[in-house]
Amino acid sequence: MAEPGSIAERVKQQADIVRLVGDYVRLKKSGQNFLGLCPFHSEKTPSFAVHPVKQIYHCFGCGAGGDVFKFVMEMEKVSFPEALKLVADKVGVRLPERRPRTPEEAKATRLRSALVELHEQAAQFFQEQLNQTKEGKLVRDYLHDRGLTDQLIQTFGIGYASGMGDALLRRLRERGTQTGGGLPAKNELVEASGLVNKDERGTLYDRFRRRVMFPIWNESGRVVAFGGRAMGDDQPKYLNSPETPIYSKSRVLYNLHRAKEAIRKQDYAVLVEGYLDCIGVHAAGVGNVVATCGTSLTDLQVRLLARSARNVVVSFDPDTAGVAATERSLNLLLEQGFQVRVLALPSGFDPDLFVREKGGPAYREKLKESLPYLEYLAERARGQFDFRRQEGKIAALNYLLPYLARVPNKIRRSEWATELAQRLQIEEALLREELRRAAAERRPEVKLRPEQARVLESAAKPAERRLLQILLENEAIRADLLTELEDSGAHKGAGLETVFEQALGLGRAGESLTLERLAEPVGEAERRLLFEMAFDDSTNARGTLEEARSCLAAMLRRKLEAELRGVQGDIEQAERKKSGGELRELLARKQALRKALAELN
Ligand code: UTP
Ligand code: MN
Repeated sequence: MAEPGSIAERVKQQADIVRLVGDYVRLKKSGQNFLGLCPFHSEKTPSFAVHPVKQIYHCFGCGAGGDVFKFVMEMEKVSFPEALKLVADKVGVRLPERRPRTPEEAKATRLRSALVELHEQAAQFFQEQLNQTKEGKLVRDYLHDRGLTDQLIQTFGIGYASGMGDALLRRLRERGTQTGGGLPAKNELVEASGLVNKDERGTLYDRFRRRVMFPIWNESGRVVAFGGRAMGDDQPKYLNSPETPIYSKSRVLYNLHRAKEAIRKQDYAVLVEGYLDCIGVHAAGVGNVVATCGTSLTDLQVRLLARSARNVVVSFDPDTAGVAATERSLNLLLEQGFQVRVLALPSGFDPDLFVREKGGPAYREKLKESLPYLEYLAERARGQFDFRRQEGKIAALNYLLPYLARVPNKIRRSEWATELAQRLQIEEALLREELRRAAAERRPEVKLRPEQARVLESAAKPAERRLLQILLENEAIRADLLTELEDSGAHKGAGLETVFEQALGLGRAGESLTLERLAEPVGEAERRLLFEMAFDDSTNARGTLEEARSCLAAMLRRKLEAELRGVQGDIEQAERKKSGGELRELLARKQALRKALAELN
């Protein structure tokens, strides 16, 4: 986070977190702080607090918390640099241009921009081929037949690659691109773009021939790849760009750059498979649509999406491959905390065909009727299994439980359990028992929930918590206190050991002890604790050196006592083993621990 003296630190000082948060949340003064309804979870009574002096926020309900940058990152779903830029713009601080660091980096950047340039030239060429040639006219007729209006063709930059074999290649060679500066020669550059192939004799030729060309954009709206649909029944039906320095199919969502705004505004995305479905749904007046292109949804794509919204409606083919894809995607989305609904079309329709035959309003109606994913799955289970029979119920249960176990929120999970029990007509207690088992086997990356966090919190004994608070609040004695802590080693094995370790590390490096830096390496529970502490405005929060020392002593006592118990156990073992040498050593150690404890008291 913001290093002292850094540009980020300067921006942070200029920005007033109360004003900035106030742009999103209605805040009311309450004592020293400001309170409002938390924007990160839904609540009816305010538990979201902003501390004007410390310039931090914390939600006592869901545990969200951080500084002004963290707030903007979470709110706008952007990265740290983007949040920095947003805040800097608001307070009128100009950020220095970021320069590429090493010559290799600079070279890679130049290579990428040369490749993008080639792609944009290619996109333009394909569009010319579609709109300005005789062959292209036939293709346009085909596209019109498929419901693609000229407007859509233009919006989505659709083009055509003719069957010539080297038309694009010649065009790219003609056109100037950036050269020099360590860039490879033109031929190698074109080869690296993936727009051409090489035959056995080393001759280059166009990768895409006789295909309708769909440009694929990256998040900033630059063309970085193509999908090419065969005319007629040529195989493969779609030929896509290979992986290149500017394109990785698992990291790109088709149409995201165009849909991003709408996704943010409407707070959800519609997810389809493929170019034509995406264009069809867009044409139905649903601008917040993105597509995967020829791969099943990846983790990276889900994360990309998560920056714009946490709600998604999955609208895949209702055929079997589509249903399997839906279920795979559900898992990924759920694991990333998405709220998922499923739009189920009548069989025989994909979104594109549905929009063409039934019209945009009918599709939007279906969108409204989309079901929460568990309901959708329950409906599917009803179709697959015979609920009237015991085995059918069990099979349905087994089908549904893994999904249910993935619902991250305990309350919602419980509501779902009730709902499913009713639908399956199973005894709720039985379902809950199974659910508990399934939940116990859940993947470890599930976030710590507040209720679990509280359990952990209570493991941090009062003395530790108080010492940490004094360290944070009382700068005057901080350096001394850190030295004493380090010398005593009292924090070793303590509940808050990681936090203390981080504090010591920061102290040694001569860095300031900010909440954000302290919270960096720690878990969710410690993080909450730190923020709750920071909001404790009681008069004695600063404490004194004397009080801090008594906390240190208490921690040390606890540590010595624990060691003593360990040694005692070892002694008993050594006695059983009749291991004299070891025993003598252990007894001496016990003596020393006793003495240390006596001195403490
Ligand atoms: P579909 O087979 O559903 O094609 O594949 P489509 O887009 O609906 O095309 P039409 O309606 O038959 O003309 C869905 C998506 O899967 C990818 C493409 O992204 C396609 O849009 N795909 C499909 C491939 O990448 N390669 C293939 O061979 C087939
Ligand atoms: Mn289709």
